[in-house]
Amino acid sequence: MRVSNLMIPAALVLAMAACKPAANDAKTDAAVATPHPSAMPVALTDAQLIERGDYIVRIAGCNDCHTPGYPESGGKVPKAQWLVGTRLGWNGPWGTTYPANLRLKAADMDDAKWLAYTATLHTRPPMPDFAVRDMSEQDRLAILRFVKSLGAGGEPAPAYLPPGEKPPVPFVEFNLPPPPAAAGAAQAKPASAG
Ligand code: HEC
Repeated sequence: MRVSNLMIPAALVLAMAACKPAANDAKTDAAVATPHPSAMPVALTDAQLIERGDYIVRIAGCNDCHTPGYPESGGKVPKAQWLVGTRLGWNGPWGTTYPANLRLKAADMDDAKWLAYTATLHTRPPMPDFAVRDMSEQDRLAILRFVKSLGAGGEPAPAYLPPGEKPPVPFVEFNLPPPPAAAGAAQAKPASAG
């Protein structure tokens, strides 16, 4: 009895002490608990969307492939030349792909068309279409608004070449090992394999 009489008030004091700072820090806690701040449904102004789009194309690597000379110059390409697509081919088992002119692409699209297009974007490698599909709607919209703010510019990228067709230079070549399934088929199947 004596012990529990002492325990109850002690527990209450502890609970009250725990509540006080929690109430004061409610704002901070909410911010920390949000796993993906950019996915929050906060309405951005037009200017803020453009600013965010500018930020995303820099950190998500869009410029790395879609802006001529961007990686080679350490990102020192004037903004007016961003995202016009390149003539550097990406050659691999999928054939040869060329990073598209996103300035011309964006000029052709309104918000609704772009959001539907990017939500289900499927391209050939090495375009990270999966990363675009995973972006929040707001981030995809921010990209469109930023690219549109640059204006239409440049030429369309060269046409895709099918596998087996040797691309003209310059191109990056992926010399990949055979896929695991093909490699496995070439060997005797272990007894345990279905
Ligand atoms: C590793 C290089 C690379 C990176 C990084 C990259 N792209 Fe691409 N992108 C490509 C290539 C190559 C194609 C052409 C794919 C094809 O022909 O199927 C392409 C195609 C596209 C297309 C389709 C355009 C069309 O008309 O077919 C869109 C949209 C696009 N990229 C947007 C982006 C955005 C937005 C980013 C940044 C998040 C990005 N890309 C990052 C290489 C890249």
